[in-house]
Amino acid sequence: MAESMKGLKRTCRCAELSEKNIGETVTVMGWVQKQRNKGGIIFVDMRDRSGILQIIFEDGEISQEGFAKAEKLRSEFVIAVTGKVTKRSGAVNENLETGAIEVRAESIRVLSESETPPFPIEADSKTKEELRLKYRYLDLRRPDLQKNLIMRSRVATLIRQFLAEEGFLEIETPMLTKSTPEGARDYLVPSRVHPGNFYALPQSPQLFKQLLMCSGYDRYFQIARCFRDEDLRADRQPEFTQVDMELSFVDEEDVMDVNERLLQKLFKEILDVDITLPIQRMTWQEAMDRFGSDKPDLRFGMELHDVSEVVKDCGFGVFTGALEAGGSVRGINAEGQGNMPRKKIDALVKFAKDFGAKGLAYLAINEDGTYKSSFAKFMTEEELKNLVDAMEGKPGDLLLFAADKNKVVYDVLGNLRLEIARNLDLLDKNDYKFLWVTEFPEFEYSEEQGRYVAMHHPFTMPMEEDIPLLATHPEKVRARAYDIVLNGTELGGGSIRIHQNDVQETMFEALGFTKEKAQEQFGFLLDAFKYGVPPHAGLAYGLDRLIMLMAKEDSIRDVIAFPKVKDASCLMTDAPNVVDDKQLEELCLNVTKTEENVTEE
Ligand code: AMO
Ligand code: AMP
Repeated sequence: MAESMKGLKRTCRCAELSEKNIGETVTVMGWVQKQRNKGGIIFVDMRDRSGILQIIFEDGEISQEGFAKAEKLRSEFVIAVTGKVTKRSGAVNENLETGAIEVRAESIRVLSESETPPFPIEADSKTKEELRLKYRYLDLRRPDLQKNLIMRSRVATLIRQFLAEEGFLEIETPMLTKSTPEGARDYLVPSRVHPGNFYALPQSPQLFKQLLMCSGYDRYFQIARCFRDEDLRADRQPEFTQVDMELSFVDEEDVMDVNERLLQKLFKEILDVDITLPIQRMTWQEAMDRFGSDKPDLRFGMELHDVSEVVKDCGFGVFTGALEAGGSVRGINAEGQGNMPRKKIDALVKFAKDFGAKGLAYLAINEDGTYKSSFAKFMTEEELKNLVDAMEGKPGDLLLFAADKNKVVYDVLGNLRLEIARNLDLLDKNDYKFLWVTEFPEFEYSEEQGRYVAMHHPFTMPMEEDIPLLATHPEKVRARAYDIVLNGTELGGGSIRIHQNDVQETMFEALGFTKEKAQEQFGFLLDAFKYGVPPHAGLAYGLDRLIMLMAKEDSIRDVIAFPKVKDASCLMTDAPNVVDDKQLEELCLNVTKTEENVTEE
């Protein structure tokens, strides 16, 4: 039976109590983690968001009625207990913050009872994520998720404080808006008042924050929800949160400076980790050449070596063929892995193929200097020696090579490097390696659309010396764009924006937009730029990714209260779902495909 709280006030949270409070009478409220009945004495672990506290109910010390209530307690009952804080009678529990004390109950109320939960509420749960997400409200009681969400709240508060002190204004931008140019699919919302018309949920506040600069707000930030209909991964959700900012009258140095100090503050205050400033910088080209990735993980080496020159005249057709086709041959040296069993090497070959490699050539250097290799037979001793030298190979090393178009080679080796590091347990979550990646290509070619698309977005300023190439050689144009990378994850990205209409026009032409189409899609921004636009720049972090790394989690689902699963559905609410015919009618919508007939197709 549920009792009321009438006349009772909670005095503190469970784990706020310590030896300092011995002798005080307190009232605590929370959930029963565990009840153990030892005859005349009952031990209850009480839990709230602060932690766990041991309560003792001793027959005679508490009324008959109170003791009877304590006897009936089961996991997840919600109770209120008033009692005296005392030194723990048994051995101190070193695993508990409150392990040196206990509360001896003088009265108890059962505020609500609980059915047996579908899984135990405990840290490091072994329960399948699917079940936990169905009962997310119970999952969220677990201490690891509580710790993550509490950290998330603290980070958000610190960000607000820091940016406010730096002169940023927090301004909200619309959720019901027009398509934004971040390149993913939009989530659409039908309009009832304008049948056949749709709002798009923002992929980012990009256009609005640029307009705020036009309006003179100077420094803006927002902790903004963004929506992108794209394939989900461990670090991607259909709705996620950006820490979004934009600044006027600044260049790259200003944006990087304020953000470096922000990151330094967050890591110091939350994790007591010192980040040395300035954060290392690397151009996109260097990142690709050395790490095969535009978000290199700098916690370990195993850099790529370009051996195209060394093998260009060798007898191995796979290598020379790729070079003749305009590609390259590159390798990584997995030092000390020369003894890797064949089965594991085969697994790496398969992994490489999943990233588009046609194969993966390997050469293990035995301790006696001989080779075990998939291609040595095609090369002379001298060619092999030159190749091994170029790779800085020593006895005991394993060399792995990819030969293909550059894009494939980077992708394969960049990912292989990470896979080997994961297999060898080289990735220490307590080691934080930040990096700015700069000078991204302005465009990338989209095979799907048969045209160049903006790598960042169409408002990103090209590097000054590359502007003349916009019309003729878009593939060579570098952008004044920067990403902040942490341990191989893209934490955030931004750019200096184009604020000159003529550059913007050339940009749209290079992207294959007609004047009319540009006007139709972004007319309000282009018009705003006619009325006095300050030079401006900005950046946005993925807050979920930042918290994931700070909390040392592998998925952003573990730092979002109510995340979605791979197919973008919510297992708890069953969203998305069908709606009433009446709702569809009001919106003038006619559904021609249902989930069943789509699956049948
Ligand atoms: P961008 O598209 O790079 O830039 O996004 C900024 C950051 O948002 C995070 N992010 C995501 N996090 C979780 N799930 C997703 N689906 C997802 N997509 C992106 C990433 C990314 O670095 N308007 C520009 C910023 C600017 O130029 O100022 C923008 O949105 O951490
Ligand atoms: P093959 O002569 O096709 O059997 O290939 C010999 C070796 O080269 C095998 O180990 C293949 O996995 C490898 N190989 C094939 N294609 C490539 C490629 N594009 N890049 C690197 N290695 C390759």
